[in-house]
Amino acid sequence: MIAKLIIDKKREGRALGSAEIREFIEGFTKGEIPDYQMSALAMAICCRGMTERETADLTEAMMRSGRCLEWNLGIPTADKHSTGGVGDKLSLIIQPLAAACGVAVPSLTGRGLGLTGGTADKLETIPGYNASLSLDDFQKVVAEAGVSMTVQTAEITPADKKLYALRDVTGTVASIPLIVGSILSKKLAEGASTLVFDVKWGIGAFMKTKEDACELARALVSGAKAAGRKAAALVTDMNTPLGRAIGNANEVAEALDILKNPANVIKRADVALCVEFSSLMISLAKDITIEEARELCREKLLDGSALAKFEAMVKAQGGDLEKFNKLLTQPRSKFKIQAMKSGVISAIDAEKVARAAFKLGAGREKATDTIDPLAGVTLDVQVGDKVVTGSPLATLEKSGGPDGLESAAAELLKAFTISTSAEAIESLIFERIV
Ligand code: URA
Repeated sequence: MIAKLIIDKKREGRALGSAEIREFIEGFTKGEIPDYQMSALAMAICCRGMTERETADLTEAMMRSGRCLEWNLGIPTADKHSTGGVGDKLSLIIQPLAAACGVAVPSLTGRGLGLTGGTADKLETIPGYNASLSLDDFQKVVAEAGVSMTVQTAEITPADKKLYALRDVTGTVASIPLIVGSILSKKLAEGASTLVFDVKWGIGAFMKTKEDACELARALVSGAKAAGRKAAALVTDMNTPLGRAIGNANEVAEALDILKNPANVIKRADVALCVEFSSLMISLAKDITIEEARELCREKLLDGSALAKFEAMVKAQGGDLEKFNKLLTQPRSKFKIQAMKSGVISAIDAEKVARAAFKLGAGREKATDTIDPLAGVTLDVQVGDKVVTGSPLATLEKSGGPDGLESAAAELLKAFTISTSAEAIESLIFERIV
């Protein structure tokens, strides 16, 4: 294989053969193909695209660059992947809920980079929680607790790690085949037989338009099916933060509150979305209708089984929820913002809220940055709520002194639009791809 000829072929817009893709990715992973040639091919793919077959070959080659897990637990396995959002603590509810309905949930997750937070960072605010399990321990926790959430190790898809680092600095992130190869190779290597995708669109999402999100969702579902998995996707709205908490510890606290008191919130759009995702996972994994799956999910959320699964996972990964409750009462600096006029909340800009939380220390700019577990924003209002001048809109919090709170508050205030009328958000689902 001559790398330059493959780059030429793709630059000219021709489809690459399966062996060409496989050998190129193998050569790159082993360090035989230099970064500059991989970057050139990534740019050619960005500009010329790939067919479904080429994307499937790229995904498979990347998946095979590392370890691929297998599950023989006697029950089906399922996982949900989100493209990332603001206040997106949904995995903390969806995964234990699906486990409570009788599927095993192996979930390799990520740390946050930039404005959207990572599930692993959130879980790590629980004192003792180990979100860096070895793959062997990950398998043990799934077998024991039915669900595990931990960061992916270096043994899974090393080709993606190397390629993503290059894409990040060569303007080649925004390419559907490369995104599909990256996301799907990791999920396929994780080994779950059912994969459900939450592809978010909007101001607070990686995909800014509905059209791009739908295209990515379709490509992820067809790629997963081509690889022999059951798959579905929901394209969901990420213009408004999900729920009330945006940060890390506060998001875990909100998820726990939902798991403990589901009857109060089951109709809320974000909670209904959790039920819908778990229902999709179990209807595909257990081969039951979506209506049967929804009924089972509602029952297991309302009777505390999902909470029990979450607690079992936390315990199995070394976490201590009593210490977490103490952390929530630890002193910190706070700042409240209030409505400047009367009216109805018609929009809460997810990106501006995320920026404010980020400024407080809830996110990281570089992978090596540390986050402040207590930093974040808690919303007092939702879209559709009436307010009068001086009504509380949100609270900003951080560890230590108050430095930075006022400037983050100024940013946060710009996130709220107050109009004369607005409807509450009833559903976050834009499109279903099954
Ligand atoms: N997330 C990933 O894991 N990979 C991409 O390419 C984009 C988003």
